[in-house]
Formats: sequence, structure tokens, C-alpha cells
Amino acid sequence: MATLEIGGIDCRRLAEVSGTPLLVYDEAKIEEQFAAAREGFQSEQFETEVVYAAKAFSCKAIFEKARQAGAGLDVVSGGELYCARQAGVDMKKIYFHGNNKSEDELRMALELGCGTIVLDNRMEAERLVQLAEEEAKGINVLLRVNPGIEAHTHEYIQTSGSDSKFGISIRKRDEIQELVKIVTESKYVTFKGFHSHIGSQITETEGFEKALEIMIRFIKEIKEAYGIQSDWLSIGGGFGIKYTASDKPIPLGEMAQILASACERLLEENSAELKKLLIEPGRSIVGEAGYALYTVGFSKDTDTKHFLFVDGGMSDNIRPALYQAEYSCDIATRMGEPKDKTWCIAGKNCESGDILVREAQLPKTAAEGDLLVIYSAGAYGYSMASNYNRAGRPEVVFAKGGKARRVLRRETYEDQLRLETDESII
Ligand SMILES: Cc1ncc(COP(=O)(O)O)c(C=O)c1O
Repeated sequence: MATLEIGGIDCRRLAEVSGTPLLVYDEAKIEEQFAAAREGFQSEQFETEVVYAAKAFSCKAIFEKARQAGAGLDVVSGGELYCARQAGVDMKKIYFHGNNKSEDELRMALELGCGTIVLDNRMEAERLVQLAEEEAKGINVLLRVNPGIEAHTHEYIQTSGSDSKFGISIRKRDEIQELVKIVTESKYVTFKGFHSHIGSQITETEGFEKALEIMIRFIKEIKEAYGIQSDWLSIGGGFGIKYTASDKPIPLGEMAQILASACERLLEENSAELKKLLIEPGRSIVGEAGYALYTVGFSKDTDTKHFLFVDGGMSDNIRPALYQAEYSCDIATRMGEPKDKTWCIAGKNCESGDILVREAQLPKTAAEGDLLVIYSAGAYGYSMASNYNRAGRPEVVFAKGGKARRVLRRETYEDQLRLETDESII
């Protein structure tokens, strides 16, 4: 019976040493993705920057990998910013997003010398200007706008308005002009340009190209109408990965190349200029590199289903329960055996919706003690993990060339009690 290897290491060995549930990253795959993005995203007309979206998976080890790859970092909270700082990330390469950054977070960004704030709304612009003056600290800003494109997987739709909680609709030009004015009048805050993000798990280029076209025309028009100079443009992240056989994503390197070329063409067609183009991949950097390993426990037949229970579930990966995300999986300890039974892979959390894979074609011999692997589990699993049912967060391991290192240890019962207290406060 063949056993799956990750990073040159037998899964049984990984599970013996680290226990399960276990998240194993094939470190070489992460490096390949960073390299593909960097090599594909090049232009002779403008500078390019790949910015890793920390929300997909954040810890010091992955931030170090981003740093080594020369990538910037998109953070969305004081916590991510703090972790980036502890990982030795160059603060100038940080892009701080979010629709409701607190005063503490904005001050922290200023104090740490964070490179760029991605502004979301007018109140934030006013607050940042005030705080930058108080702290006498300089900072760049991009303004997040909604180009009126919504894209998911292979479809995109153009919408006229925007009810998104993020950013300002591109149609609200006067509002945008006023906001930019607030920023440009400050001696500490420097307006650099615009940001847009159109969705997630997008496997086609059309939505991005349409967004680029809209953004470039917009940049030109507001320069002509209001004299607003935009040097940078970020087109966000959202590049799709392969979860199941029906996903046919464009490889990240190719996608990056197509977008850089599309931007060159659109700038020329519109007689517009840019100094820097940015992308913010998250999922496409870490998603396919991550393998979630579980130990199979009990199994059970109902009238319509054959359940296979595993020792994790929605507490370490809420995506299937949260938005019906689909994954493919295998019995890692029975690779190559005929897949002759449809199993329903259920977690151990106390919710009927705690199903990791609804219909998995796996060997009928799957049994207690086997290891189940869920593929492409590297994005938005650990980062959305919880202590639901007081489940501890899993251990995370980076494996490469037959060696493995623990980058996040398993959360113990004692860890979970570390916040418990009994202090009189008022
Ligand atoms: C502004 C922004 N940038 C980047 C990303 C990363 O997206 P993905 O992980 O799908 O590449 C997101 C995801 O929500 C986002 O909101």
C-alpha cells in the first residue's frame, strides 16, 4: 500500500511525529509560487510589485518566506502587522488594508513606519491625516475604489452601483476627489494612487482585464478633470487555484504575465501612465501547497450515506461549512487502491454542518487509523480556524527535500486556558 509523501516525507511519519490534525506545507511549492508571480509580473514600462495577502495564511514563517521572495505584505489588522514586524518584514513593504482600522491600528502603522495605508473611506482619510500630523510621521496611501466588477471563479459581472462595505464606488468621482484633496493637503500623507479588488477564486483573466481597463480610464479621466496624479495601481488578489477536478485555474505566473501585458497595452491605448502596478495574491501562493492530514476514526452508514469521521473539522477548516467550499481528498495511507466507494467526510465538531467533503470517491477499505489528506488546504483554513468546542488549532509543518520543521505548534488545553482570568475590574 503506497503512502502519500509531502516534501519528500511519508505522511505516516509526519503524523507519528506531529499528530493530527496536521497542516503540512510543501515549502518548495510556496517558493515556486512566489517565484512564478515575481517572474511573470514584469514590465519595462512600469515597476511591478507582488504583495502577499497575509489573510490567506499568516505566521512568522510564511512572512519570512514572503520577505525572502522579495514580496510585499498586505495586512488587515494590528495583529498581522505585529506578526510581520516580529518576522522582520521591511515595514516599507507593508500595505495596510481594512474598512474600519482603529485609531490604535493607524497609530501603530505610523509608529512602525508602515509603507502604505490602503484607505477605505472619507472618515479614515480624515483620521489618518490627523494622526499623521500628531505623530509627525509620513505615510503613503492608496485609495480603494470599486470598479463595478464582481468576479467569482470563471464569471464576472459588471455592476452599476456598489453596496460593498469596502472602498468607494468609482462612480462617486466628486467624493473621491474630495477625499484625495484631504490627503494631498497633508504634509505627512502622500497620495500614490488607487486600489481595487474584484473577488476571489477567479480562474479567468477577463474580469481582471476589465477591471484594469476601467481603472486605467478612470485614472486618466480624474487626472484630466481634477488634476489628480495617480502613480500606483493595485489590482488586488483573487487568483484561483485547483480545489477539485472542475477547477481549471490559469497558473499564477501566466496570470501575472497576462495582467502586466494587459496593463501595458491599456496604458498605451489610453495614453495613460503608471509608475507601479501591484497584485496581492494570497490563496494562489499558499493554497495548493497546503495538505491537511487527519486520522480516520469511526465510520457509520445511514440510509443514504457512508460517513467517515476524522479528528478535525470546521474548527480547523470552516470553509466547507461557511460557504460550501469543495475540496478533493485521498486516503493518504492507501494511495493507488481502487476508489470504489462514495464516502462523506465529516469532522468531529458539534454541528451537523461540519462536513469537510460531501462526496469523496475513496477506497472502500478506508478504516480507523488511516490518514485522510485534504488537498489545497493551505489558504483560509488555519487563518479562519477557531477553538470551537475547545478544539486546539492544529500543528503546522513546513516540509522540503525530506526534512520538516514545525512552524506552529499544536494548541494545547493549557494554551486555551491562558486567557481565563478572574479579576475584579469595576
Ligand atoms: C484587498 C484584498 N487583496 C487581496 C486579497 C487576497 O485574495 P486571494 O487570497 O483570493 O488571492 C483579498 C481577499 O479577500 C483582498 O480582500
